[in-house]
Amino acid sequence: MNSGDLLIRGGRILDPGRNFDIEGDVLIRNGKVEAIAPSLPSMESEGVEIDARSLVVTPGWIDIHTHLREPGETHKETIRTGSLAAAAGGFTTIACMANTNPVNDNSYITTYIYQKVTSESLINIHAIGAISKGLNGEELAEIGLMWEAGIVGISDDGKSVMNSYLMRKAMDYSKRFDLVVISHCEDSCLKGKGVMNEGFNSARFGLRGIPKASEELIVARDILLSELTGARLHIAHVSTKGSVGLIRDAKKKGIRVTAEATPHHLTLTDDVVGNYDTNTKVAPPLREQEDVDALIEGLSDGTIDALASDHAPHSVEEKEVEYDQAAFGMVGLETAFPLYYRLISDRGVSLNRVISAMTIRPAEIIGIPKGTLRVGNEADVTIFDPNLTYKLDKAQFRSKSINTPFHGTDVRGKVRYTIVRGKIVFDSQMGVRGTNE
Ligand code: DOR
Repeated sequence: MNSGDLLIRGGRILDPGRNFDIEGDVLIRNGKVEAIAPSLPSMESEGVEIDARSLVVTPGWIDIHTHLREPGETHKETIRTGSLAAAAGGFTTIACMANTNPVNDNSYITTYIYQKVTSESLINIHAIGAISKGLNGEELAEIGLMWEAGIVGISDDGKSVMNSYLMRKAMDYSKRFDLVVISHCEDSCLKGKGVMNEGFNSARFGLRGIPKASEELIVARDILLSELTGARLHIAHVSTKGSVGLIRDAKKKGIRVTAEATPHHLTLTDDVVGNYDTNTKVAPPLREQEDVDALIEGLSDGTIDALASDHAPHSVEEKEVEYDQAAFGMVGLETAFPLYYRLISDRGVSLNRVISAMTIRPAEIIGIPKGTLRVGNEADVTIFDPNLTYKLDKAQFRSKSINTPFHGTDVRGKVRYTIVRGKIVFDSQMGVRGTNE
């Protein structure tokens, strides 16, 4: 071993991207994966050795749907604090949405984000550019220039592009750069002033409903537009059984559509809105048990390709108001994994499928050469303890925001180390490396 080397010893190495599942060692040198084998020679005096017996070693996790609030709302989250939260959640790469203030709809903002990422982030962060200027849904954003500046996809996430002609143009244009078009599917007219799922519970709780059709209409439209244009479409935060069915059928027809689901849509129903905790208010809203079941089935059979947190930090002021008035969104980076783990322990989804949906599949969707532990690749690695049980605690969050309904929840599965380019950026027994944050 040389100084700076990292030897991960005796873990279960699980890499769905290469169909790889063995007990063994991983040697990291100069920030790259140097060797993977059932047994590598022991280190000498230099370098760091991690004892990974009883732990699982996977490619670094990738979350393609986060909101970092910089520029513009840095009291909620910054690129720096978002990266700390991501590292603590086991994520080595994330992509951040364009609904900042100003919106990331031009190459100056994209460049600003990447400069901040270079100087302040512990992990890899990729920017997603807007589809329309100012997210107004009227005029295309500077997609080509943002692509030159490094965006990995386009999205007006937070809103649907209601103008079908503009969406068609965005899809046509995206093909020149092979950029994925990420669609937030909620028909804004049908959603109206709704704040939760429309159904029995919205009547019971006296809150305005958002029908499932508001999502499914746009899912269906965008699948048709993807078929028309041949563009790559990715459906963000799928929430209904009907959407899962539409996506499954589109895939069968060979349409280039992929999809993601969030930890909250996979584990909560709208029953929890009954306590009027505004941290349960998200867009799209929490649905019903048959929807949760359909999402889990879709994840198992690959209709839902990826898992994504939709980490949406909001200030206390925006959440400590009446349910009707509260902002939509909950933080997710630091609670995602143990909630995904429930799908394995309680719902029979395979560990391989869950890790695939957190590594190779999201990498493929945004087109980055990550998500697998190939020798010679940059050494982004996540190591977790599948057996540790604990309570989620918002007081421990590295995020600037604490808007979660999962505080105090009993969970299983804990991130032990997060490693980016061979450097340990999170160690659960040490906190975040190199910072006092
Ligand atoms: O709940 C949400 N919050 N859903 C979104 O799509 C946007 C996000 C936000 O930016 O707060």
